Amino acid sequence: MLPVGVTGVSGMHKPEGEPVTTTSAAKITVLDFGEYKAHGEPIAMVTSYDHPTARFADEAGMDAILVGDSIGNNVLGYSSTLPVTMDEMVTHSRAVSGAVRRALVIGDLPYMSYQPSTRDAILNAGRLMSEGGVDAVKLEGGAAMIATVQAIVGAGIPVMGHLGLTPQSSAALGGLRVQGRQAEAASRMVKEARELEDAGVFAIVLEAIPARVAEIVTRSLRVPTIGIGAGVHCDGQVLVMHDMFGLSEHQPRLARQYADLGAAFRSGFAAYRAEVKDRLFPAEEHSFKMKSEELDLLRSLLAGGQP
Ligand code: KIV
Repeated sequence: MLPVGVTGVSGMHKPEGEPVTTTSAAKITVLDFGEYKAHGEPIAMVTSYDHPTARFADEAGMDAILVGDSIGNNVLGYSSTLPVTMDEMVTHSRAVSGAVRRALVIGDLPYMSYQPSTRDAILNAGRLMSEGGVDAVKLEGGAAMIATVQAIVGAGIPVMGHLGLTPQSSAALGGLRVQGRQAEAASRMVKEARELEDAGVFAIVLEAIPARVAEIVTRSLRVPTIGIGAGVHCDGQVLVMHDMFGLSEHQPRLARQYADLGAAFRSGFAAYRAEVKDRLFPAEEHSFKMKSEELDLLRSLLAGGQP
């Protein structure tokens, strides 16, 4: 917990002098991310792609909610994140941001929405903000993305970086595999993280890299790192909601399962089906009544052939 009385530089939503703590009801801003790092309080972030689960995550006190392009694998039935479109991201970002009162909402820029040109990047980041209602955007990549990050940040849009395993480049990486295991690759990552920081990102996701490398990256930055499969020394953690709740087809090693909603869905669907087949559902309390005189009138209308 941040010490009570620590004042966050959190912009318009938080009255001056109000303490930033995990229990504060005030809207979290990108500036609070720096405060969390400065005070050693881990940042809790999770993905969500829809209104109800975003509300649950927000009510649970999550610091940040990521509308990830992992929506491709987890919700839309694609085999990767690559087919995810800007329209899909805008629709789901709007569903999430409409439900969230406190957490920072971050929207992923999907594949080929920012790589072709800085103009594309600014326009698409702007769409996620204005149409999707997000507070910030995330994009993948290091050295090749510096000018893009500068351009989006220059347009007044907060950017989160993403290094390590970057699924949009999985073809170039030779698949979805742990990154930075060799000293040279790890040192490149440290350098790229610093360059992203200098370009203006407010935080960096580190995905699937050795814990010791993540620790070195984290220590060499002023902005917080958010790890997924990157060990306990990152400034925060992010998990994909579907991995947390037993909703993924394959449970990745980097995630912990906190509940088995897959099992709850299966047994709930099976019970409903059986009750429909056995005429046990709907019961009396799910049905609507008609006054007996109206029913009699209906019968006589029908018997007399009147409309
Ligand atoms: O899309 C996503 O869910 C992500 C997380 C893995 C960080 O980028």
